[in-house]
Amino acid sequence: MSANVYLPHLARVVSIKEEVPGLRSIKTFRTQFLDGGFTHLCGQCAMLSIFGRGESMISISSSPLVQDYLQFSILKTGRVTTALHDLEEGSLIGVRGPYGNAFPVDSWKGRNLLFVGGGIGLAPIWSVLQTALLRKGEFGDLSLVYGARTSADIVYKDELADLKTKMPVHVSIDVAEPGWKEFVGFVAQNILDKKPSPDRTTALVCGPPIMIKTSIKSLKDLGFGDDQIYTTVENKMKCGIGKCGRCNIGRHYVCKDGPVYSWAELQKLPQEY
Ligand SMILES: Cc1cc2nc3c(=O)[nH]c(=O)nc-3n(C[C@H](O)[C@H](O)[C@H](O)COP(=O)(O)OP(=O)(O)OC[C@H]3O[C@@H](n4cnc5c(N)ncnc54)[C@H](O)[C@@H]3O)c2cc1C
Ligand code: FES
Repeated sequence: MSANVYLPHLARVVSIKEEVPGLRSIKTFRTQFLDGGFTHLCGQCAMLSIFGRGESMISISSSPLVQDYLQFSILKTGRVTTALHDLEEGSLIGVRGPYGNAFPVDSWKGRNLLFVGGGIGLAPIWSVLQTALLRKGEFGDLSLVYGARTSADIVYKDELADLKTKMPVHVSIDVAEPGWKEFVGFVAQNILDKKPSPDRTTALVCGPPIMIKTSIKSLKDLGFGDDQIYTTVENKMKCGIGKCGRCNIGRHYVCKDGPVYSWAELQKLPQEY
């Protein structure tokens, strides 16, 4: 008899870090499989389950090159994500996956990589960023443009401070705050302000839908072609394996064929995302 594809691996939560406090709380969880688990590629996701509460699809934000743990950064929105936020270190969760396609990282060797993130949208591209840093010398220049609504909403604060010693990192908040010395305004405006060159550059854009659309417009205004821009589509999902039809764009199953798309590919699909 074949294995049940819905059966999760058991994983222990080995660390929990509060990234953002308050109503729109974000926590980063590191987990270790009790069995062999699985390996993943940059951009893939996993269904996390809390027994008796349900499942949520979450991007794997750690690099595949880091084998000690699997990392997830989770915004508290509803039933399952609240249950995940209530966990304590040492708890057991279910993890099934890996699901979806991946960023075509190997095809970007020698190219500059521009990471563009908004809010929790830094998580899906963080695995690529960490991988590019670990595979030193294989890529061109790395840079990050990242924005959050307020300084309190910025994720990976410690990691960003460290990143600033290694590559250009341009952080913004939407509205001015006392003591804030970096850019004030939306991510799309910060892109136009910093004017990254499209020459031999691939841009990875992740965040809320409005931030993705406006940021891509800024990139196109700067001369980026549709095939130089990659993003992720986060349609609601249930099965994660192309069975339930919950995540479709036209006849496309985002859980199998996505969530990673180039902007050129997305233009060919019905505008339902
Ligand atoms: C491919 C993919 C990757 C994702 N990666 C991450 C991640 O790295 N970190 C993270 O915090 N979240 C991520 N999400 C979103 C996450 O799956 C949902 O927030 C979560 O499933 C909500 O579950 P819940 O039971 O807590 O909320 P529910 O009680 O089910 O819903 C609470 C509210 O959130 C809305 N909602 C639920 N799912 C989505 C969705 N997919 N898009 C927009 N609104 C939604 C509901 O309509 C409702 O208003 C991802 C989703 C997808 C499809
Ligand atoms: S989530 Fe079920 S088909 Fe994609």
